[in-house]
Amino acid sequence: MELSTDSVANSVLGISEKASNLIGSEILQLGSLISQLSAKGQSILNLTIGDFNPSIFPIPELLKQYIIEAYIANETNYPPADGVPSLKFAVRKFLALNEGLDVANDEILIAAGGRPLIYAAYKSILDPGDVVVYPTPSWNNNHYCYLTEAIGVEIPTSAENGFMPTADELRLHVESAAMFALCSPGNPTGTTFTREQLEKICDIVIEENKRREGKRKPLYVLYDQIYWMLRTNGIEHVDPVSVRPEMKNYTVYIDGISKAFAATGVRVGWSIGPPAVINVMKKFLVHVGAWAPRAEQIATARFLNDVGSVNSYIKVLQSKIDARFNALYNGLDDLRSRGFPVHAIKPQGAIYVSAQFDLIGKTVNGAKELQTTADITNYLIHNAGIAAVPFTAFGCPQGISWFRISVGTLEEEHIQRLLSTLESVLV
Ligand SMILES: Cc1ncc(COP(=O)(O)O)c(C=O)c1O
Repeated sequence: MELSTDSVANSVLGISEKASNLIGSEILQLGSLISQLSAKGQSILNLTIGDFNPSIFPIPELLKQYIIEAYIANETNYPPADGVPSLKFAVRKFLALNEGLDVANDEILIAAGGRPLIYAAYKSILDPGDVVVYPTPSWNNNHYCYLTEAIGVEIPTSAENGFMPTADELRLHVESAAMFALCSPGNPTGTTFTREQLEKICDIVIEENKRREGKRKPLYVLYDQIYWMLRTNGIEHVDPVSVRPEMKNYTVYIDGISKAFAATGVRVGWSIGPPAVINVMKKFLVHVGAWAPRAEQIATARFLNDVGSVNSYIKVLQSKIDARFNALYNGLDDLRSRGFPVHAIKPQGAIYVSAQFDLIGKTVNGAKELQTTADITNYLIHNAGIAAVPFTAFGCPQGISWFRISVGTLEEEHIQRLLSTLESVLV
């Protein structure tokens, strides 16, 4: 393999080839462009961040109080490698109550949020060269494949299917796959699997694993449900083991408090999976040291046990998200119905709206034509002062005109201004 210029320069600095070729977060790169323009005085509505503005979406007051109390009580040492017992117990109870999942103590691992758990799952299940099948757009699977030397097989999805992969699309790769990486509600899509869709996918996995029995390692599903508590009214959350109990042997869940409690900086997540996989994930993360802080674990356990407070917190959080979803989606749909080149998918969950700004070929200032996804991104930033993340940052091909709009930092009173600005720049 030929080394890139960066690799050559970095190798002189003593940086490994693997690290030199690591691609950073495309979303953070866009963030740094926005910071530069803002520093120059341009006003930009930054809707690129998959996070919450804590002054609009604070963490639960009780959770905050319990964290402080845990520190005051000197809960400051290493936690047990698999998580503090009270949190493991609280999560098991929580999942039994809300998803009907019966999770044993050796089937759960606590860590510092979803990311280390995803990395640990990749590392624990896959050998270099193993195939991971995931949809595009999707969040970060390409980077986890790179880190673990797995081969990523990307399934392009369609707007008609809400950018979720179908069973038929996954079936094409079932024989070669070591893992399907799925996520619902999705980032960046804001859409979810229906029960019927997930049942069909699980049936394919179960059938394939019957064929493999005793001959090859099983096909696993990494099921990222980190946004599952955030769904608009009437949208059901489905998960592999609930729809097909046999999936228990093959499913590793990613979950936690980052999104459900707007607590991205608190760093508490959990994985549920077959004991053998959970055990190696634990061993792996012990070496990395990616424990959730002990005080936060104790506080999360206390909060999760308070079912009434959890439910009322989620209700308020969801109503704020829904207000933004509705105003934004209805406004974009109104523009579409009036002939503007915009199209949005009705959001079902998470904090994202998928929107298309169909501007390829648009002539700007009578001269330059927008030709690429980056041209549209820049046009929206410079001309409308609106920053959204193009689906190219989630593995989609160049030329796509779909974007992720995050409502996590969006003030309600800014939505009308956003829509009228769009109206003026989309003509
Ligand atoms: C789909 C998805 N999974 C997992 C994560 C990681 O969550 P955490 O902040 O708990 O590491 C994110 C974060 O944006 C996400 O969007």
